[in-house]
Amino acid sequence: MTTALKFALFGAGNIGERHLRVAKEEPQCAVVAIADPAPHGARLANEFGVQHYATAEALLEHEAELDGAIIATPNDQHANIGIACIQRGLPVLVEKPVTDTLASGQALVDASTAHDVPIAVGHHRRFDPSIDVAKETLDNGTIGRPVAVECLWSMRKHDTYFDADWRRNPPSGGPALINLIHDIDLLRYLLGDIVRLSADGGAVARDNAVEDTLALHVRFASGAVGTILASDAAPSPWGWELGTGENPEIPPTGRNCYRFMGTAGSLALPRLELWHHRGDEPADWHHQIEMRPLADGARAALRNQLTHFCGVVRGESAPRVDGADGLQTLRTVLAIHESLAQQKAVDL
Ligand SMILES: NC(=O)c1ccc[n+]([C@@H]2O[C@H](COP(=O)([O-])OP(=O)(O)OC[C@H]3O[C@@H](n4cnc5c(N)ncnc54)[C@H](O)[C@@H]3O)[C@@H](O)[C@H]2O)c1
Repeated sequence: MTTALKFALFGAGNIGERHLRVAKEEPQCAVVAIADPAPHGARLANEFGVQHYATAEALLEHEAELDGAIIATPNDQHANIGIACIQRGLPVLVEKPVTDTLASGQALVDASTAHDVPIAVGHHRRFDPSIDVAKETLDNGTIGRPVAVECLWSMRKHDTYFDADWRRNPPSGGPALINLIHDIDLLRYLLGDIVRLSADGGAVARDNAVEDTLALHVRFASGAVGTILASDAAPSPWGWELGTGENPEIPPTGRNCYRFMGTAGSLALPRLELWHHRGDEPADWHHQIEMRPLADGARAALRNQLTHFCGVVRGESAPRVDGADGLQTLRTVLAIHESLAQQKAVDL
């Protein structure tokens, strides 16, 4: 039995608390210290019986025995805390977006390269079991050559969600950077890089300074094309969290929200529904297309991500989403805002 890895948690807010609770269940690691200036940071540290510090600097100064760090602070604190951890030789699991700007993201990636210390970016959906099956299905030609994808994400956020300034205003607010970034990461993982996109929409339903509703056209390097519709102002049964039930605060509907179309069939996620013609008939519109569900597993993406990070810390595997990958997803999401502002397509 190996000793549990000792992790520090920076930022014990909404997602930080979820990391803390997931880590409590994971025998391979233990969160031993929390840095968070807010009272709930001290309260959680007390509840979990771990050291509390008001600042990241104090934690790094006093905790000598760490093996890794989880960074779940606001976006503009990811780079400075991440670089400080890397300089201490601590591998980092940093929440998405990797940082708030491309320049600070590049600085974080450069520090990781210079010190040879890995960064894993918290695009946890890649650890949903359906994604492994989908990746294999798309790569092995089961649906032929993927030519198109449709993605939906639409849920109405509660009104008090917008009490926090940063959620109503640039540079951190809006569903593109907060929510769609996960879909962009998954689509890039499954179909390859997005090389061109155009966005329409904006503050359609609310008067906030950030968008609430978006329509995107995207083109992948492979030539495949896609449409993405997103709104945080419209209740619907369609969206990743609704389809998977991965977020305990969002009651699930079990509906698909992605449809991949290939030259030999189609695949809908997250239910992993494969649509195919029978092998003994031509695969054309005059013949019946049938659905076959593919095997799926238990959904515990955040926990799976943490288990994976433990392997990264022990040097057993490379991060599934490394810093450069997280930065390319950030670059793609920032292009959405650029396209909206300029009202034209953006090449990446
Ligand atoms: N992976 C996901 O699905 C997911 C979900 C939610 C949030 N996030 C990301 O996680 C990060 C945090 O989001 P949140 O919703 O938990 O925000 P939050 O406001 O609920 O929590 C952030 C916490 O960080 C603390 N903090 C601020 N500055 C700090 C510093 N310098 N050092 C230590 N702690 C500091 C705050 O006091 C707060 O408790 C953001 O980057 C966000 O994009 C990811």
